[in-house]
Amino acid sequence: MTYTLLRGRLLSFLRAPQSLADTDSYLYESDGGLLLNNGLIVACGAFDEVSAGAPADTIMIDHRPHLIMPGFIDMHLHFPQMQVIASYAGNLLEWLNTYTFPEECRFVESAHAQRIATHFYDELVRHGTTTAVAYCSVHKTSADAYFAEALRRNMRMVGGKVMMDRNAPQGLLDTPQMGYDETRQVIADWHGKGRNHVAITPRFAITSTPAQMEATQALAREFPDLHIQTHLSENHDEIRFTCELYPEAIDYTDIYARYGLLGDRTLFGHCIHLSEREADAMSEAGSVAVHCPTSNLFLGSGLFPLKALASRDKPVRIGVATDIGGGSSYSMLRTMDEAYKIQQLLGERLNPLESYYYMTLGNALSLSLADRIGTLDTGTDADIVVLDAAATPAMALKMEVVKTLAEELFLLQTMGDDRAVVETYVAGVAAKSTM
Ligand code: GUN
Ligand code: ZN
Repeated sequence: MTYTLLRGRLLSFLRAPQSLADTDSYLYESDGGLLLNNGLIVACGAFDEVSAGAPADTIMIDHRPHLIMPGFIDMHLHFPQMQVIASYAGNLLEWLNTYTFPEECRFVESAHAQRIATHFYDELVRHGTTTAVAYCSVHKTSADAYFAEALRRNMRMVGGKVMMDRNAPQGLLDTPQMGYDETRQVIADWHGKGRNHVAITPRFAITSTPAQMEATQALAREFPDLHIQTHLSENHDEIRFTCELYPEAIDYTDIYARYGLLGDRTLFGHCIHLSEREADAMSEAGSVAVHCPTSNLFLGSGLFPLKALASRDKPVRIGVATDIGGGSSYSMLRTMDEAYKIQQLLGERLNPLESYYYMTLGNALSLSLADRIGTLDTGTDADIVVLDAAATPAMALKMEVVKTLAEELFLLQTMGDDRAVVETYVAGVAAKSTM
């Protein structure tokens, strides 16, 4: 297997940065070398040293002066919503009923699901995202298309067939038994195949009957290592309706807790309006609150208290995500720009080191996958993004006055998008330039 040596400025986080001055929280090599072989990072450090240890026939790719980072991780998005994005709706429930549910019905057709899967992975790669955690539709066909394409591209992907058996059109409903059986089949067909991870995926409490929640609980017991993903506390009308459907629960979070779904493998999309009790419960369980800023602004759902949740005495684990198609951009750079603005509105600061930490190591830790992705550590997957902070004329002009790494990262986040992604490597192979 040939070796590839990337040359450029390396940036990889070691832990969560405590402040902008926390230079010990990351590794930065101004003239770095990253040696890749067989889908893995085999050496990382100063270019001269890494290059001296590389085999003679190593292929060198010079990315100077660009930044080389771990590929971005998107913790929450909806594969069947590529044609829902940019739908004009007043709020979450109107958006779901008017646009989203009808569109997802089309994924019963495998030809349609396969076509969208191709576009889906193209967009991820174009935007420098190398791992994503997606909801498929209720149809097993959609999960098959999603995982087959991930396998073809050798990407590390998490996803699940949505379970939903009420409060949606007939074409989008399973039953408790069907949801259970088909999820088991998706696990048997795809989990651990290539780099695929299957997640147990009850859409949210509104679209699952108590009987289906019990089926979900049975799956969670049978497959304790699998991720669970669902939605929590996104919109005030949603919260009210949910609590009406489960009057025995003390709050929205308690519904999931009652069915054994509050654990350290559970990824809860949104979590905007949690009470202190709910945040305590999330913290104690080690569950992850996944922030989806472009979606929260687009649907008018609210301002996620990221800083407040992360800095509590009982901190809540945080992930960040696009939430396509409620979200309005596939770019994790655009996502963190909006996350920054939300904290501004809340009177908090989200510094650029934190942003890039969240997109990479932070999300990897929240997925319990930091041994494989999210850093440039040797032995981990060679999923890498190469970024150019001078990608457009306006960015290049601003770069003339940028003096520090943090300023450069902030410029990339504020003005960057897919145009700033020079290359995306998936398991050591250039995937963007060859698309
Ligand atoms: N809650 C339940 N389903 C969805 C969805 O598809 N998108 C968003 N943003 N929230 C949801
Ligand atoms: Zn969602």
